[in-house]
Amino acid sequence: MFTDKNTQLLYPKEDVPTHDIEDIVQTNIFNVMLNRRSQRKFENKDVEEWKLEMIFAAADTAPTAGGFQGFEIYHIKNEEIKRRLVEAANNQPYVHAPVVLVFCINPKRIKLNFPPDTIRKFSQQDATLAAAYSQLAAHALGLSSIWIGMFDEIKIKEILGIDLSPSSILCLGYPVKMLVPKPKRNLKDLIHEI
Ligand SMILES: Cc1cc2nc3c(=O)[nH]c(=O)nc-3n(C[C@H](O)[C@H](O)[C@H](O)COP(=O)(O)O)c2cc1C
Repeated sequence: MFTDKNTQLLYPKEDVPTHDIEDIVQTNIFNVMLNRRSQRKFENKDVEEWKLEMIFAAADTAPTAGGFQGFEIYHIKNEEIKRRLVEAANNQPYVHAPVVLVFCINPKRIKLNFPPDTIRKFSQQDATLAAAYSQLAAHALGLSSIWIGMFDEIKIKEILGIDLSPSSILCLGYPVKMLVPKPKRNLKDLIHEI
């Protein structure tokens, strides 16, 4: 996905140490998915720009309704805005993370002739998928994350000074400690054959 026919990396564009690139190329998607675990405690350490670039590139690859990419990502760098987002997110302190990404819906981008409700639903799904792709990419890069869905939409729009509704906030950083994945449902309870 990130490589061309000659296996040259398309992303990241910046030079990065060779062993780091090898780690990425050899990443097994199933291991990434099976080992991801939500994390709410991050080290006070910056995330490298090239990793961010990979995370954004991953979001950009997500499938979207009609291919119109009905979502936007706001990368919050301003510390004061991060603090205000904590309050808008039910005072969840970990929202003030090293990397804070607000995924918003942008139904206006979706040029399909369907009722507004359908278009809005599509943009919700677009934004959700993009955030999920970013979350997995972050994990593949040795980062951890917490998905934030509990927030006051109106407050977030006010704080960011935008007209678009937020869909999720993805908080990322280096974990204080890598946690083991939470047990999930047994597959036989999850799958319903009809
Ligand atoms: C739609 C959605 C909303 C969530 N909202 C929050 C939230 O507001 N705060 C929080 O701490 N975790 C939130 N989470 C994270 C879940 O609590 C977490 O994914 C769940 O406990 C399963 O753990 P795991 O991600 O380690 O598998 C949310 C996750 C999803 C998918």
